Amino acid sequence: MGEAEHVPAGINPNVPSVARMYDYYLGGRDNFAADREAAEKMIELGRRLGNDARAIALANRAFLGRAVRMLAEAGVRQFVDIGAGLPTQDNVHQVARRHGPGSRVVYVDNDPIVLTHARALLAREPDVLALEGDLKDPDAILDDPRVAGHLDLSRPYAVLLVAVLHFVPDDAEAGRIVARLRERLVPGGHLVLSHLYAGNATEDDVRAGRQVYANTPSGGLARRDHEQIAAFFDGLELVGPGVVPVADWTPDGKPDGSYDYVKSGILAGVGRVPE
Ligand SMILES: C[S@@+](CC[C@H](N)C(=O)[O-])C[C@H]1O[C@@H](n2cnc3c(N)ncnc32)[C@H](O)[C@@H]1O
Repeated sequence: MGEAEHVPAGINPNVPSVARMYDYYLGGRDNFAADREAAEKMIELGRRLGNDARAIALANRAFLGRAVRMLAEAGVRQFVDIGAGLPTQDNVHQVARRHGPGSRVVYVDNDPIVLTHARALLAREPDVLALEGDLKDPDAILDDPRVAGHLDLSRPYAVLLVAVLHFVPDDAEAGRIVARLRERLVPGGHLVLSHLYAGNATEDDVRAGRQVYANTPSGGLARRDHEQIAAFFDGLELVGPGVVPVADWTPDGKPDGSYDYVKSGILAGVGRVPE
């Protein structure tokens, strides 16, 4: 976006947004000074923990690409990407289509700026739908008549919760949301999930991170450990190495115990509903 550029109606450039901060980590231009300032605080915090926030964001994005490619190659043709973020390179519909012709995608995000950008980009993409929606109400997303008109949810589809669930700070609520999404999946359906992991952070560090995100409309940030993140896959068969550092997840990876969890920044996994 850049300072000199137009601010879309309904957007307050002085309030940092999760989507625009992430765009900044990824090296994008769709962000304002308030987003960059907030993101720099997180980058500095990561540095203190021995992490590189930008590298972690890029690794998360690369995981998303690997997971979607693996699913498309396995025959999955329907994707519901919740907390989709601003369009960037190799978006879900592009990867899915490249490896699974005819794939159909629904992008959902609660940030109106994401929808403004997505709709402009996707105006001539009949296989892609972008909707404003809140992860906190998964039934409202899946029961939206536009989703029913775009996908056949009685057939296998993949739900993507990539770097979004940590913006639901309440553990019980996060558990309820994911359980409901799992319940709605049919056999052969998949859950793709990545989640912030602050292995070696002190309580002060966590508080500092929360303070940065408290100023965004998301309002907070959850700290969850490996066990809590792995529990989001309850009842599913894990594909690949299990729930591992995001940079290490590959479809044919093995749970070999050599992963560096402490430095990983984000953990990721893919689960499948048994047939
Ligand atoms: C860190 S970005 C991740 C983008 C993309 N999934 C990726 O991993 O590359 C998180 C996205 O989730 C969105 N988000 C945060 N809370 C949400 C909620 N309750 N419902 C829907 N989207 C949400 C933000 O607006 C942002 O676009």
